[in-house]
Amino acid sequence: MSEEYQGKRSWAEPYKIKVVEPIKMTTREYREQAIKEAGYNTFLLRSDDVYIDLLTDSGTNAMSDRQWAGIMLGDEAYAGSRNFYYLEDNVRKYYGMPYFVPTHQGRAAEHMISRILIKPGDYIPGNMYFTTTRAHQELAGGIFVDVIIDEAHDPEDEHPFKGNVDIAKLDALVERVGAAKIPYVCMAGPVNMAGGQPFSMENLRAVKAWCDKHSVRLWFDATRATENAYFIKQREAGYQDKTIAEILKEICSCFEGLWISAKKDLMVNIGGFLATRDAEVFEKARNMVVLFEGLHTYGGLAGRDMEAMARGIEEMVDYDTIRARIGQVEYCGRQLERFGVPIVRPIGGHAVFLDAKKILAHIPQEQFPAQTLTAEIYIDSGVRSMERGIVSAGRDKDTGQDKKPELELVRLTFPRRVYTQAHIDVMVESIANVYQNRKKVRGLKMVYEPEFLRFFQARFERV
Ligand code: F0G
Repeated sequence: MSEEYQGKRSWAEPYKIKVVEPIKMTTREYREQAIKEAGYNTFLLRSDDVYIDLLTDSGTNAMSDRQWAGIMLGDEAYAGSRNFYYLEDNVRKYYGMPYFVPTHQGRAAEHMISRILIKPGDYIPGNMYFTTTRAHQELAGGIFVDVIIDEAHDPEDEHPFKGNVDIAKLDALVERVGAAKIPYVCMAGPVNMAGGQPFSMENLRAVKAWCDKHSVRLWFDATRATENAYFIKQREAGYQDKTIAEILKEICSCFEGLWISAKKDLMVNIGGFLATRDAEVFEKARNMVVLFEGLHTYGGLAGRDMEAMARGIEEMVDYDTIRARIGQVEYCGRQLERFGVPIVRPIGGHAVFLDAKKILAHIPQEQFPAQTLTAEIYIDSGVRSMERGIVSAGRDKDTGQDKKPELELVRLTFPRRVYTQAHIDVMVESIANVYQNRKKVRGLKMVYEPEFLRFFQARFERV
């Protein structure tokens, strides 16, 4: 008997596939061995041994034919490449920042801005930490202070803007240390470590007013800003009819400057930049970039990379493109919920975050439940995910003790335009299987710990 058509109109990706990249299929035994050799750290796996790679959305995107065509137009002159000027024009047009310095990726821009603005002993409030951002703030002698709203630390709280800053926490900090010790407030959106959660325009305006009142600068980690713009359009009154480009421009208008890792929103494989309306900061960054990255018209990038970035900026603000991206993440989250797998709510922009604290409730945080879960998922199906819990949080700079974050998560991050809904179905089935057999899983112990950003290279053994 045929079903009645109920008027539903599905949507799909606004692109089709022109080139494919075959992936290797492996057995469970093979993967048991591979993850053991990788010290139970998914960062240390060979990508050839991975079936569906959800480690990160960083630099793992599929470029469009228009971006690939642009690669052939690379002007590889040492100075004054035409691709630089095209990119500079687009940074002005879409981010509204007059001054711009390219860098090879995001953390290079974080390095420069931290060195330029932070003096030893300064405090830098932010809406939750990000690993590389905080590492550079600390290297410059700064002390990171988390001022995100409390709801962000609760995986079940349904607040639509869990990336918001708690103004009372800013007030408390200024009371404690004085505004002179706060070089800038650092806002990211959506907030990676909170589960890809956005801030609202209303909250951003309140933070800006606070900064103006206390003469504190406001800087933006705009790495995934179009996702934040998309959530504002979906969730905040008055933005339904604005374009992603308009909302992005409005967000950026509140900041003195920003940096990005172009490896996300811009859908390229490498790149980053620092952009600002502050002529003094620009002058310093332009001087510094020649020491660490390269001349200020290439900043560690090839001309062709800058061309792909410039074209990526034009594509990233396309509504159908961003809707398909976030729609895919949402589809994955909803499927996992069907199997009862605990995830961070609301479903974020770039990733679905599994609540490892709940899933492996029998494993204490000292035995790395999230790290353990990444290994189990890999063994089950070859799906690669990333720990975002106690390993990523690292040690306290002063006491040397492990930081114990509330959130003990596994991140399933979606490269843009790379995987299909069928890949997601396979991945969801695997995670549902791991979830069903969770009681049998044992924790890990750390047997090697590097000095910086330990999650990248740490090694583990089963307890
Ligand atoms: N800021 C945010 C919010 C990021 O997510 C990243 C990178 C950076 C800065 C640093 O940029 O990697 O180009 O040097 N995030 C990647 C991730 C690594 O997997 O979330 P980068």
